[in-house]
Amino acid sequence: MSREKYIDKLVIALPSGRLMKSCIALLEKTGIDLKGGREINRKLSFYDRERNIKIIITKPKDNPTYIEFGAADIGIVGEDVLIEEKKDVYKLLDLKLDHFKLVLAAPKRKDRENIVKNNGHRLKIATKYPNIARDYFKKKGIYVEIIKLYGSVELAPLAGLADMIIDIVSTGRTLKENNLEIIDEIMPLGVQLIVNRISYKTKHDKIMQLLKEIQRFILPVESTK
Ligand code: PRP
Repeated sequence: MSREKYIDKLVIALPSGRLMKSCIALLEKTGIDLKGGREINRKLSFYDRERNIKIIITKPKDNPTYIEFGAADIGIVGEDVLIEEKKDVYKLLDLKLDHFKLVLAAPKRKDRENIVKNNGHRLKIATKYPNIARDYFKKKGIYVEIIKLYGSVELAPLAGLADMIIDIVSTGRTLKENNLEIIDEIMPLGVQLIVNRISYKTKHDKIMQLLKEIQRFILPVESTK
């Protein structure tokens, strides 16, 4: 690859998991060749020679790390990850690929009174978002024990690991099927296009061009609120 071509190359990091399909569909609309990306399984990077764009597939939680360190110029990430991980990146655009919310939820039999009046027993809160959970309870002045989990958080109250959970809700199906109810809606969340601070300056034209192309295809999705 020539020096100019190397300097001009744009690396876009997409998250694996629930957002990947809609990310791929959005980028394909802009004409980026993802080599039939829907069949992506173990292959983690693709190169569109024509447009000099490389796509890498990251774990959702690692996505902002790739952007912060400049291993990728641009990324797509859920705001849950962005807020929890507190990485030094620019937010460019709400992509409206999905709307979800972060909630405090508990087994149905619990009521709100029990939370605030709980004095004797220290509440245990299971979550994939320990930083957000700590801030949330600190602001409320409630002393809790945070239990960090990596997934299937709804299981924790059922299995007796925790009293409540802080987790994201999209359709609400997982809460419902596990007999949990929302006690408090902590914040609405979207999906953001983020950019590395240096790339934003050094590859500004190419990034703005892509941004313009993406904006043409953004459709508002129905809120879960
Ligand atoms: C997320 C979240 C909930 C579920 C909510 O988990 O942590 O478990 O989706 O979605 P719903 O409201 O549409 O049911 P994810 O699917 O990312 O898997 P994980 O629990 O293994 O992290």
